[in-house]
Amino acid sequence: MRRALAVCIALAAATAAWAQERGAALFEQHCAVCHQQKGEGIPGFAPRLAGTLAERAKTENGRSYLAQLVVSGMMGPIVSGGEKFNDAMPPFASLADEDIAAVVGHVLTTLNQVPAENTITAQDVAAARKRALPPNEVRRLREQ
Ligand code: HEC
Repeated sequence: MRRALAVCIALAAATAAWAQERGAALFEQHCAVCHQQKGEGIPGFAPRLAGTLAERAKTENGRSYLAQLVVSGMMGPIVSGGEKFNDAMPPFASLADEDIAAVVGHVLTTLNQVPAENTITAQDVAAARKRALPPNEVRRLREQ
């Protein structure tokens, strides 16, 4: 029994470590071109992701916004850190649910110091996929 528990714990830790590494690699591959390596963003084009998202991660609405945003993309004017942005975030629906959860997990834990248990799950991503919102409506989720 105890041994099974130890194996379970080791597996869970390995899975978490795997997701973290995978998230960092996916971020570099798909997101850093616009949001930059450390999530610092590009003024006037792509908002900063480092240190700007912890509040959103605290609520159910905030987390479903983040899942929806990566699945569906986003379009239209937003204000982030007092700066206006009005460009398009491309959709990443072609990535697997686990990959989207891992890349958002990287953004939240590494770039925003959110505890791992408060990031989004593959189930959140699957729900976002079902909702299939157009990019300009994703922006409305952000306002909520
Ligand atoms: C082609 C450039 C580009 C790429 C690639 C890109 N983004 Fe974005 N992202 C944007 C833009 C532009 C916005 C703002 C959209 C707007 O103004 O409505 C944005 C917005 C965001 C936001 C919302 C921030 C907030 O304050 O609400 C998050 C989170 C985000 N992107 C994460 C990601 C992740 C994760 C990836 C990789 C899977 C990614 N982005 C890839 C351009 C990009």
